[in-house]
Amino acid sequence: MLARGCTGNLWGGTVPDGVYFGDCLDVMSKLPSDSVDLIVTSPPYADARKHTYGGVPPSEYVEWFCERAEQMFRILKPTGSFVLNIKEKAQDGERHTYVLDLILALKRNVGFRWVEEYIWHKTTAAPGKWKYRFRDSWERLLHFSKTPDVKMNQDAVKVPIGDWTTKRLANMSKNDRSRQESATNSKVGRCIANWDGKSTVYPTNVLHKSPVAHNTGHSAAFPEWLPEFFIKLFTDPDDVVLDPFLGSGTTYRVAARLGRKPMGIEMDSDAPLRLEA
Ligand SMILES: C[S@@+](CC[C@H](N)C(=O)[O-])C[C@H]1O[C@@H](n2cnc3c(N)ncnc32)[C@H](O)[C@@H]1O
Repeated sequence: MLARGCTGNLWGGTVPDGVYFGDCLDVMSKLPSDSVDLIVTSPPYADARKHTYGGVPPSEYVEWFCERAEQMFRILKPTGSFVLNIKEKAQDGERHTYVLDLILALKRNVGFRWVEEYIWHKTTAAPGKWKYRFRDSWERLLHFSKTPDVKMNQDAVKVPIGDWTTKRLANMSKNDRSRQESATNSKVGRCIANWDGKSTVYPTNVLHKSPVAHNTGHSAAFPEWLPEFFIKLFTDPDDVVLDPFLGSGTTYRVAARLGRKPMGIEMDSDAPLRLEA
């Protein structure tokens, strides 16, 4: 196993630091159990990019991924999180089901809890036209955990409340000042006054963000906001962050910048790594 660009043991602990080259299955099987705080990654989407960095046929994808996911489950701490960025491709005019099958297999066969599905709405979708579909402008960001007791720093990812509140909160009615139940009896209530005086609020599970990644040289690099959002949300400084499909090293670079202990695994020893901010 060759480590390139970063060697030695940065934190002298139980988890090796740095970047490791090889199949993540082999590298992860050498890591200790319950040792990683966050795994955030984007694996090959089956064989969607087989001409650049290879891939796995959709029919074999779930089995291939679950073998690696068993190691992810083992090395994740009980309070840890696993965030999987993935999207199914369309084949023969319909969406393939390998991502849906994978979610079920990760739950039923590997033992992960499927905590949440964040939607990444790509605000700058590429132009194009297809016979039966429109332009694809979203991907899945699937959040899994090992136990119900997940570390989650919700305040770390608050977003600006938005200009609309200035006008709305300046003209509050009597009803706005107490909790109002939905007129449709849906049991969904709200109290507008709860937003008064706030400049930031919790985000929703739809992340409206650009797909643009700068200066990477990799065909499928993360934009930096993506690992950054989940690293801030699910880890503290000095926690261990692993990307087992490292590509150009975006997760590693962001984790290091945020004072976490970064670790990455990449099969292609010629991958265009950029590990420093
Ligand atoms: C979608 S890209 C990841 C890009 C990355 N998020 C970035 O920001 O650059 C997937 C990467 O996984 C690597 N890969 C594929 N199979 C692998 C395996 N079994 N173990 C480790 N890396 C693998 C590919 O070479 C590719 O660079």
